[in-house]
Amino acid sequence: MKKLPRTKTRQPARTVSIIGTGSYVPEKIITNADLEKMVDTNEEWITSRTGIRERRIAAEGEHTSHMAARAAERAMEQAGITAEDIDLIILATVTPDTFFPSTACHVQRLLGARKAACFDISAACSGFLYGIEVAQQFISNHTCNTILVIGADKLSSIVNWQDRNTCVLFGDGAGAAILRYRAGSHGVITTFMGSDGNYGDILHMPGGGCALPVTKENFEQRLNTLHMNGRETFKQAVTSMLAAANKALEQSGLTIEDLTCIIPHQANLRIIEALAERLNLPLSKFQINLDRYGNTSAAAVAIALDEANRTGRFKQGDYILMVVFGGGLTYASSVVQW
Ligand code: UT7
Repeated sequence: MKKLPRTKTRQPARTVSIIGTGSYVPEKIITNADLEKMVDTNEEWITSRTGIRERRIAAEGEHTSHMAARAAERAMEQAGITAEDIDLIILATVTPDTFFPSTACHVQRLLGARKAACFDISAACSGFLYGIEVAQQFISNHTCNTILVIGADKLSSIVNWQDRNTCVLFGDGAGAAILRYRAGSHGVITTFMGSDGNYGDILHMPGGGCALPVTKENFEQRLNTLHMNGRETFKQAVTSMLAAANKALEQSGLTIEDLTCIIPHQANLRIIEALAERLNLPLSKFQINLDRYGNTSAAAVAIALDEANRTGRFKQGDYILMVVFGGGLTYASSVVQW
């Protein structure tokens, strides 16, 4: 009988660790008071309904790739690696610099990561955890050793600044993580991803793609901006993040009491409060920064992870849970032993 060739996947799966994190937010701050001058809204409404107090907006000429590269440099510095060590760049975004080349390729150029293969992931706010899952597969099956995963978005470029229902919610930023094989028990314990395309139109940008290309008429109808059914999105966010959190716990064999810190998507404080209540956890267990940055889409959980890491919210050996939700619909969760 013909002998099958030995493939990379026949080797035992490897442990995948997050060995460095980094984040970047632009300097320019837009406060709720600033928004009062732009649309019919008020400080009290925004703060009480969302928990958001201010958000960062990219400077003129500052694109998703620039923010992503800054976050990546910080992650590489913490990980103690150089750009030449990176085998693969996975970048999650819904606001790419260009449709193609991918924003990951733009970042490769900015970093000088010559050896890396590059591609983007489109999973809206869930994209960073989708990226972690993909990276984990590539490393554990011996295809790559060192992967840069980035969540970066410049939502200010697709927000309708005349729509008070959405423009108060979002901000710009980037977060990054370096994943690498590391012998031993610490690392990404489990990941879970899910989607439901039936709810695609509750949070989407209808125009700009081949279905509704940029024409004068489409542009005038603002079809190339973000559209959202807020109430429905809120409901779906709570349900799917709860299901994703429970799934990750079940897959990892851990209980909620084993977790030191939960890092959720940063869309609305009331969504995080609802999740905390359903998981029967105090809000103090959650890393929250939406008051300062608003919802930065794919960057949100990545920035929160970096802040939690750098402020000592957990130590080596602790279990953390990341859980996200976004347009698509998409949702994902990941349990990591730090
Ligand atoms: O990354 C994931 C994507 N995003 C989310 O997860 C967001 C999920 N949804 C939400 O966070 C909330 O639904 C919102 C913050 C968007 C809205 O809060 P809400 O409590 O669901 O308010 P609502 O949409 O039910 O609107 C209540 C009222 C409406 O007025 P009427 O119809 O009751 O007279 C809105 O027109 O609030 C009005 N409103 C505002 N008022 C002042 C909506 N936006 C504003 C605003 N300022 N910015």
